Amino acid sequence: MIVLRGAGELAALDGLRLPGPLVFVPTMGALHEGHLSLVRQGAALGPVVVSIFVNPTQFGPGEDFAAYPRTLDADLALLANEPTAVVFVPEVGDMYGSAGEVTVRAGRRGEGLCGGARPGHFDGVLTVVAKLFGMVRPDIAIFGSKDAQQCLVIDQMVRDLRLPVTLLDAETVREQDGLAMSSRNRYLGVADRARALCLSRALAAGRAVLEGGVRDAGLVEAAMGEALAAADAIDYAVVRSLPDLTSCESSLAGALLLAVAARVGPARLIDNVALRVDSAGVTETRLLASAPATD
Ligand code: PAJ
Repeated sequence: MIVLRGAGELAALDGLRLPGPLVFVPTMGALHEGHLSLVRQGAALGPVVVSIFVNPTQFGPGEDFAAYPRTLDADLALLANEPTAVVFVPEVGDMYGSAGEVTVRAGRRGEGLCGGARPGHFDGVLTVVAKLFGMVRPDIAIFGSKDAQQCLVIDQMVRDLRLPVTLLDAETVREQDGLAMSSRNRYLGVADRARALCLSRALAAGRAVLEGGVRDAGLVEAAMGEALAAADAIDYAVVRSLPDLTSCESSLAGALLLAVAARVGPARLIDNVALRVDSAGVTETRLLASAPATD
């Protein structure tokens, strides 16, 4: 595993002559099994480049940029045990600071849900991801479905800016009790950790309502909201159509995203499940059409 620190060292990437399609897994570090699952899936396709960069522009004022866990040594130790070819660790100055700064603006897919609760968040995500794509020049990039809206806005950017990269989505990795893994789970004390289960329970409750034959979005959302009552504040508990995240009309059908965001103690947590609802019933589905079947 080669560690390239800063854009200067990234120049060495070409000289490595890595064989096969280059696979990229961008992260903000504080790595957990969710991140590592992306690395493992990528390694089946080609040499994997992981980036670690806590991107300031995707945090709003008053958010946890300063407190965000920075655990570079532990991250590098974890990646060394995985099929990681290269770790790229940019400096802030490598990514930002040009005088006439150009940024990417997320379109409609970035408007509601986390984009509504965190204004400018997806502009920051897209700007840094576009820059990282330009620097690493991957053939394939893998993103977790855990951040469904992020996956979908990046998908729209790649299409609209004609970026020469294939996107793949990866399934959400969960703790045994159902909590979606997240770097922010580190903020949770014992009592908050127990309450955090209300997010995955809310998704299960919404899904159960659908499986019971209900096709009314309001009733599904009410069931999710009820389960989220254990949280300190609910950002949203919604059903949206995939892939554009538009509100659902009358009778729920087709590819849907059940998505929740809530504050539990000091942590703002998100979770979601993508479901297909049709005459065969309710089945899990993938976010991005280009994703290969996993089974
Ligand atoms: P970060 O939160 O570190 O996540 C990096 C990648 O890991 C993202 O694609 C995310 O969806 C995925 N991931 C996180 N938790 C996961 C889980 N439980 N299961 C599967 N995948 C999971 O997302 C970001 O960083 C940043 O916004 C970034 C894209 C790097 C841009 O700064």
